[in-house]
Amino acid sequence: MAGLHFLIGSAVDFHPFLIGSIVIRKPLLQAPLDGWTIEPFRRITRELGAPFSITEFINGLDVVHKTPNLPQRIAFDASERPIIFQLFDDDPQRLIESACILEERCHPDAFDINMGCSARQVANRGAGAGLLRHPEKIKMIISGIRARVSVPVTAKIRLGWDEDSINYLEIGKIAEDCGASMITLHARTRRQEYSGCADWTAIAALKSELKIPVVGNGDVVTIADAERMMSETGCDAVMIGRAMLRNPWIFAGYDFEAVPFGLFRDTCRKHLQYNMEYYGDRWGCVTFRKFAKRYLSRLDISRDDMLRLMTTDDPDTFCRSFETLLNGESL
Ligand SMILES: Cc1cc2nc3c(=O)[nH]c(=O)nc-3n(C[C@H](O)[C@H](O)[C@H](O)COP(=O)(O)O)c2cc1C
Repeated sequence: MAGLHFLIGSAVDFHPFLIGSIVIRKPLLQAPLDGWTIEPFRRITRELGAPFSITEFINGLDVVHKTPNLPQRIAFDASERPIIFQLFDDDPQRLIESACILEERCHPDAFDINMGCSARQVANRGAGAGLLRHPEKIKMIISGIRARVSVPVTAKIRLGWDEDSINYLEIGKIAEDCGASMITLHARTRRQEYSGCADWTAIAALKSELKIPVVGNGDVVTIADAERMMSETGCDAVMIGRAMLRNPWIFAGYDFEAVPFGLFRDTCRKHLQYNMEYYGDRWGCVTFRKFAKRYLSRLDISRDDMLRLMTTDDPDTFCRSFETLLNGESL
């Protein structure tokens, strides 16, 4: 566990902090990822050390209209607490109403408001990063939810809509003044989507401007990256997105190549088991393929064997084949 202990006990300063009354004792946080951070994977990140779970974003429209895909988006295991529900919408009243409905129905430990999603169908409708163009709506959303629910509210933002409208400092201040308990900054603009490099200097600027905890996000892949982000920006914690899909062990302090093999194999097995419990055998295996491909990239698997695994529909065959490959044998 050298990495994480090094991170906590090293020149990099980590101090436990609060989101409302939730104590965050570890500096590496799980990011919300649509289509990925569903219950089974979140349980894995928690068991490896992430200090809370955060859902993929939940559409306020789905909550108010009780659409059929809502139950999966709000499902969580009791062991995941503290669990943060992330919401998105362009309509402040509907967002506030959604938070009230979900608080009563599921009792999450906090709500996070998505102000960073760059996807066209979200941002162009004025939700996600689209909200950054409407600071008055952000005021209504944060103060409205704060007034109506009993749990903390946090926000996840970007630098601004584009390079000509960088406003993260203004948005951060508004969120803080309206009662937000934490801000995460993905240090890119909406226009950048995922291109270029995240501008960590902006994370440092936001941290020096606000009193509430500031979480840095963008381009952290290794423990060394996380340490560098913390030391260069002074942020309170680091949120990890894409890198955790291949390496959830980062929450236990390991870079991908350094994960002890026994732990690697146990976690892979457990994740598949959680997926099958959650989705049922067949769908559990199908939805596990995208993780299997990433995890197995650590081993020397032939293209043919990978293709066979990825196209296996039968759960028994999938489990047997996955186990064979994990044991370093070919199919
Ligand atoms: C496939 C995918 C889905 C995402 N879904 C969400 C989401 O539901 N909510 C959110 O706030 N951010 C979402 N993000 C953004 C990530 O949380 C994160 O801010 C971004 O990937 C940058 O961090 P990283 O460089 O560590 O990946 C998503 C990103 C990706 C790649």
